[in-house]
Amino acid sequence: MTRHLITSAIPYINGIKHLGNLVGSQLPADLFARYQRARGNEVLFLCSTDEHGTPAELAAAKANKPVAEYCAEMWDVQAKIAEGFGLSFDHFGRSSSDENKALTQHFAGVLADQGLIREVNETQMFSHEDGRFLPDRYIEGTCPNCGFDSARGDQCDNCTKQLDPVDLINPHSTISGSTDLEMRNTKHLYLCQSQLKEKLENWIDTREGWPVLTTSIAKKWLNDGDGLQDRGITRDLDWGVPVMRGDQPWPGMEGKVFYVWFDAPIEYIACSQEWVGAGKGSDWERWWRTDKGADDVTYTQFMGKDNVPFHTLSFPATILGSAEPWKLVDFIKSFNYLNYDGGQFSTSRGRGVFMDQALEILPADYWRWWLLSNVPETSDSEFTWENFQTGVNKDLADVLGNFISRITKFCRGKFGEAVPEGGAFGEQETALIADLTTKIRAYEGHMEDKEVRKAAQELRGIWVAGNEYLQAAAPWSTFKTDPAQAAAQVRLGLNLIRLYAVLSAPFMPSTSANMLASMQTDDDSWPDNVSDALSALPEGHAFTVPDVLFAKITDDQREDWQERFAGTRD
Ligand code: MF3
Ligand code: ZN
Repeated sequence: MTRHLITSAIPYINGIKHLGNLVGSQLPADLFARYQRARGNEVLFLCSTDEHGTPAELAAAKANKPVAEYCAEMWDVQAKIAEGFGLSFDHFGRSSSDENKALTQHFAGVLADQGLIREVNETQMFSHEDGRFLPDRYIEGTCPNCGFDSARGDQCDNCTKQLDPVDLINPHSTISGSTDLEMRNTKHLYLCQSQLKEKLENWIDTREGWPVLTTSIAKKWLNDGDGLQDRGITRDLDWGVPVMRGDQPWPGMEGKVFYVWFDAPIEYIACSQEWVGAGKGSDWERWWRTDKGADDVTYTQFMGKDNVPFHTLSFPATILGSAEPWKLVDFIKSFNYLNYDGGQFSTSRGRGVFMDQALEILPADYWRWWLLSNVPETSDSEFTWENFQTGVNKDLADVLGNFISRITKFCRGKFGEAVPEGGAFGEQETALIADLTTKIRAYEGHMEDKEVRKAAQELRGIWVAGNEYLQAAAPWSTFKTDPAQAAAQVRLGLNLIRLYAVLSAPFMPSTSANMLASMQTDDDSWPDNVSDALSALPEGHAFTVPDVLFAKITDDQREDWQERFAGTRD
């Protein structure tokens, strides 16, 4: 039995996530967690909400709520939707927890003790009307280079010139629109990542079998001219983890908070403490401290490609720099983007299908299957309603659903609602078992490797093999000449349903549960031996014909949704 620590990038609190977010971290992480559990391994699967930073403050202001209240409400919303999608987190935490506050302050303290933190005086734009410092992207003005009138403080989107807020002509706050701005002095803490460059490089170079997407992004940041620069880890904001050196005040840093990207990954660890605090576990250290048993743990992180620099460099810099025995990640699985109908999904513009909307129109498993089998693994991929309709109808309705309905109905009609007795397996059945054994071993390999698309393809192949067998064996014909042989064929078919339920559960947990329920079994043991697995339901075992498992998506529905989701939501 192996032990798997699995984390999904923690979603920002400011709003409901879209399907692109879901498929880029939480969903594949859930697939892997469910698979490892199904194989009898010990799993700790964690996710949280990412609650700090300017976007959270602004979203709360927009909703007219105190930010703490806004975050608490949105956590509830996100937790419910995650449940609706069957995301099987052992704990869904919050980066604003007391645990994360203390741990973030602890890390800052030990990093300072290691001589890896320096104080930097800088100037930043202060807005009198907003009563706050403005991050670069909340300042806009006219570009000194091309005259574009909505250039941002960090860059002009028209001519792409990198800018400083002071370069802008007529700068204004994008929060209030105010032009009453002033450059003010402010002091910040910087993490001396440059001192850790060699350590990080060594670590990355010795990672084996990491996805090219992950290592290429890491290398780029390590080796680019302005590669691994020291980075500011504090901000002039109200909302966040107060800057402290461990549990001591940090002179000169009063009223400041840590940068959201400093405290968010630390929440991966804090979440395990919250898990213990919630009474769901008793020992978080054996997952996270290599001096307390975490050496045996395999730690896998899931995320979108934009998150890779923070997980290959920044967070490891925090861990390595601390010189404490924290568990480092073993494998980083990263994803490209899922696009929506010829453009990008966008939270800020409300473009695409959001998780709550998806669940309103179809059960979670339809989405889980389509998203995972089309996951943007080697390149960006695209959601269109046509692709979605085709994928669901073909794979789920025509292949899997049709198989189950045909075999159960035929059995009910000819033998009654129990696994038929008599007959024996012959050549066809032996060949099928051999074929399935090969396919299932390949499926296991892809799941271990976190090759999500290949795993989905293999699973589809396993379903197809059953359909082809049924077509060739044709028990409806055999029945006329040799009812005993037909009984054996049907018995195999019914056992295939149980087998499919077990294999498909990581992709489609609730459908799989329904399949097991209609086979009236709770035997969900993994098919280590396919021949044994195909006699798990003995002769005479009662079952029921399930209701339609997958309804086809009609053209009317597709057109209806196409129209409904064409615009943006507010
Ligand atoms: N909230 C970030 C995003 O959605 C992800 C944070 S991941 C963590 O892009 F490492 F910070 F936890
Ligand atoms: Zn410009």
